Amino acid sequence: MSTKQAYVQVNGLKKHYGDGDARLTVLDGIDTSINRGEICVMLGPSGSGKSTFLNLIGGLEDADGGSIMVDGCDLTVLNPTDLGEYRRRELGFVFQFYNLVPDLTIKENIEVTAHLSKNPLNIDDLLRSLGLYEHRNKFPRQVSGGQQQRCAIGRALVKNPGLLLCDEPTGALDYKTSKEILQLMEDVNRTYGCTIIIVTHNAAIARMANRVLRLRDGCIVEDELNESPVAAAELDW
Ligand SMILES: Nc1ncnc2c1ncn2[C@@H]1O[C@H](COP(=O)(O)OP(=O)(O)OP(=O)(O)O)[C@@H](O)[C@H]1O
Ligand SMILES: [Mg+2]
Repeated sequence: MSTKQAYVQVNGLKKHYGDGDARLTVLDGIDTSINRGEICVMLGPSGSGKSTFLNLIGGLEDADGGSIMVDGCDLTVLNPTDLGEYRRRELGFVFQFYNLVPDLTIKENIEVTAHLSKNPLNIDDLLRSLGLYEHRNKFPRQVSGGQQQRCAIGRALVKNPGLLLCDEPTGALDYKTSKEILQLMEDVNRTYGCTIIIVTHNAAIARMANRVLRLRDGCIVEDELNESPVAAAELDW
């Protein structure tokens, strides 16, 4: 048992889809805790429930059982208004395919989220640290996949979230760009102190994590602390 304070504490988390013969158990009683400021990497085969787990932590779907405490607050008992407030206040989400708004510029895509926050980061400073300042007035289709993902990370970060949830953030990127994005996440973790959960198929990424969770058929089969994480720049696959 860690002496550090758990920031995300999940107990007996259950989720299924469908009923009767079509019933599919996707999360079968997940227990884990993630400390504040950790980088947690979740691995597992396709269909093992990784995205479902992130969506539940992110308050995008309801659990069928168990509890999800984030910063001492149980999401499973929040009403829709409070859940929306939790998502606005506490969460950043990054997806495999960026999900940028095509008709907004890079800067505007980030500004949209900034407006949701009471104390957003300075957008121009953030654009500079993302390496996007000179691309700020372009549209997503006019920049590379890596730059689009940087923009998506900026959009998640601009409200200075406590928790950054990333679902296959490098799944659509080549080796070199993937490493740049992982280095950016490492920087963000150090600079802003946000807790990061990265879901990936790439086991090599686990080496940069403080905690590694491995999911199989809706169960956690490995939950290990990594005493000496490797710098993202040193990863190889
Ligand atoms: N809305 C839904 N309705 C019905 N079944 C669903 C739904 N969402 C997910 N599932 C099923 O739940 C299981 C887990 O899905 P999930 O997306 O969490 O897996 P995953 O580990 O993220 O897989 P991948 O690595 O392919 O992204 C799968 O069998 C999937 O088909
Ligand atoms: Mg998935």
